[in-house]
Amino acid sequence: MALNVAAVGALCLCVIVSLFAITSAGDPSKFFEWNVTYGDISPLGVRQQGILINGQFPGPDINSTTNDKLIVNVYNNLDEPFLISWNGIQQRRNSYQDGVSGTNCPIPPGKNYTYKIQVKDQIGSFFYFPSLALHKAAGAFGGIRVHSKPQIPVPFPTPAGDYTVLIGDWYKSNHKELRNQLDSSKILSFPDGILINGRGPNRASFNVEKGKTYRLRISNVGLQSSLNFRIQNHNLTLVEVEGKHTIQTSYTSLDIHVGQSYSVLVTANQPDKDYYIVVSSRFTSPVVTTTGILHYNTSSAPASGPIPDGPTDVNFSLEQARSIRTNLTASGPRPNPQGTYHYGRVNVTRTIILANSQGIVNGKQRYAINGVSYVAPDTPLKLADHFKIEGVFRNGSIQDKPTSGPIHLDASVTESDYKGFFEIVFQNDEDTIQSYHLDGYSFYVVGLDAGQWTPDRRKNYNLEDAIARCTVQVYPKSWTAVYFATDNVGMWNLRSEIWARQYLGQQFYLRVYATTTAPRFQDQIPKNVLLCGKAIGKNVTSA
Ligand SMILES: *[C@@H]1O[C@H](CO)[C@@H](O)[C@H](O)[C@H]1NC(C)=O
Ligand SMILES: *[C@@H]1O[C@H](CO)[C@@H](O)[C@H](O)[C@H]1NC(C)=O
Ligand SMILES: *[C@@H]1O[C@H](CO)[C@@H](O)[C@H](O)[C@H]1NC(C)=O
Ligand SMILES: *[C@@H]1O[C@H](CO)[C@@H](O)[C@H](O)[C@H]1NC(C)=O
Ligand SMILES: *[C@@H]1O[C@H](CO)[C@@H](O)[C@H](O)[C@H]1NC(C)=O
Ligand SMILES: *[C@@H]1O[C@H](CO)[C@@H](O)[C@H](O)[C@H]1NC(C)=O
Ligand SMILES: *[C@@H]1O[C@H](CO)[C@@H](O)[C@H](O)[C@H]1NC(C)=O
Ligand SMILES: *[C@@H]1O[C@H](CO)[C@@H](O)[C@H](O)[C@H]1NC(C)=O
Ligand SMILES: *[C@@H]1O[C@H](CO)[C@@H](O)[C@H](O)[C@H]1NC(C)=O
Ligand SMILES: *[C@@H]1O[C@H](CO)[C@@H](O)[C@H](O)[C@H]1NC(C)=O
Repeated sequence: MALNVAAVGALCLCVIVSLFAITSAGDPSKFFEWNVTYGDISPLGVRQQGILINGQFPGPDINSTTNDKLIVNVYNNLDEPFLISWNGIQQRRNSYQDGVSGTNCPIPPGKNYTYKIQVKDQIGSFFYFPSLALHKAAGAFGGIRVHSKPQIPVPFPTPAGDYTVLIGDWYKSNHKELRNQLDSSKILSFPDGILINGRGPNRASFNVEKGKTYRLRISNVGLQSSLNFRIQNHNLTLVEVEGKHTIQTSYTSLDIHVGQSYSVLVTANQPDKDYYIVVSSRFTSPVVTTTGILHYNTSSAPASGPIPDGPTDVNFSLEQARSIRTNLTASGPRPNPQGTYHYGRVNVTRTIILANSQGIVNGKQRYAINGVSYVAPDTPLKLADHFKIEGVFRNGSIQDKPTSGPIHLDASVTESDYKGFFEIVFQNDEDTIQSYHLDGYSFYVVGLDAGQWTPDRRKNYNLEDAIARCTVQVYPKSWTAVYFATDNVGMWNLRSEIWARQYLGQQFYLRVYATTTAPRFQDQIPKNVLLCGKAIGKNVTSA
């Protein structure tokens, strides 16, 4: 039986409205003052310039609960324009707070901007990061936790401890040097190492007590390397992926691609000593490896013995990806189970096939999606949209199918109304791993496989319990297909998380517009919005 989209929309709305009735009055605000500065760090034993938040590298965690309002006042004390974006926080109808170049004017050096974000109807583990100018290579990232409201059941006992584990590849060069490499058409060099929570080999340690179970919220905040995560003599029980509770499966190691977040439970059930935590690169030659320490607080010996080997083949990763599924009966942010929304019964209204490619344009290395390499205009797309400024972007500046012919530069945007139900197929014909992220949404990963996608691949889609997430990998010479309802009005960035590719054009925007003036579908421009480009001098109160 097929359910119609409007009916599904109405169903979801009822639930939101009733929850809202119970909770809206009490949605608490949490205030953060963040001072962003340069500072010396030496995670790989070489002093380099990092980007710190309140003197910290990585930045502070954001600890929140479903529907909390997060008021984050960011002071930019760098010598360059700066923005922070919130990976996986959906910003319902509020892309003005998304903090990417298409939605926000950058915070000028010496100035501040107060983000007003609500973690509306979300739970889970995410992270924030600096979105402009390769700042991500220097720091200013940190973990975001969204706890379930106390009255909503969580499908596992409260762990004895809850750790943020930020893993990522790292360079000894600062972000300006790396940027110069890319601006002069060089391929980014091979990473110099891997960091765990901003620390080099054996410098990140996690305390546990024998017999107890801990939650690790692991995010890959690096620039390009897929990473395998494992702990000597300990299994990882996967419980949550980017805001969805999963079927609880035990793994000896997990592949975590750039931009992805996973929660695992680890039980300290081994003899009293320390154990290696191992993080190593995947699909690279050579393999880069680092270690951290799982420290039993009554430990009698340091970590020792050979570090466990990681997987080496692609199939391991592909099969693991397919095994990650939603627990349909567990609660998400709402009292009703996560399986209540039957995404597999909604008719697709539009199929978009996106192929990544690279080439030389005007003598420079560029990366593209469907033949278009994104160039950010001076005026953020969202502000051009709001103030109806002509000549900033055109609808349809990226096609729904791969195109042949040379790559061209544009501010690529495609549009949809808020009632669509999309199938996006990411086709990766290159021989390197891809990772794609969509802001504002969580999509159902219905299929991944090797080779070329064709319509008959739909026969093998998972239409029952696919995981819904915001970042998905596409294996070399392979495809990944996702489904989602375009129900979040705004201007949303779809990008490669492989950061050199993102920086050199492998991204575009999805403009989702309302066809009704009902207030619940509208987004409101913030009173403190920063203006730039053709939006300078526009009247925020009248528009
Ligand atoms: C969905 O598609 C099927 C097959 O084309 C059709 O029979 C059904 O009426 C459609 N449902 C809706 C709600 O449009
Ligand atoms: C930020 O830190 C810098 C350097 O420590 C200091 O000069 C400045 O006053 C701080 N700004 C704020 C807003 O705290
Ligand atoms: C984070 O918030 C939760 C829920 O309010 C609370 O139980 C926990 O103690 C907080 N953790 C930290 C590190 O502040
Ligand atoms: C800058 O910070 C001040 C508070 O110190 C705040 O009132 C103001 O709104 C902030 N500026 C912007 C653009 O958000
Ligand atoms: C799914 O969630 C339910 C409800 O919390 C829980 O009882 C069950 O153990 C979970 N199943 C799996 C396989 O994780
Ligand atoms: C890890 O899981 C495997 C397979 O389920 C099991 O055989 C093994 O005993 C587990 N190891 C630990 C340390 O729990
Ligand atoms: C280990 O942790 C437990 C619980 O916090 C505590 O009771 C115990 O004293 C600790 N042992 C050591 C040696 O620190
Ligand atoms: C990967 O799996 C596919 C299909 O199951 C199989 O044809 C292929 O030989 C496998 N490759 C490796 C390296 O195991
Ligand atoms: C924008 O393009 C999409 C896809 O071609 C189309 O469905 C939509 O109607 C267009 N919107 C406008 C306002 O032209
Ligand atoms: C902006 O528009 C509002 C409402 O129309 C008006 O009251 C205000 O004077 C305008 N401000 C400027 C600077 O033009």
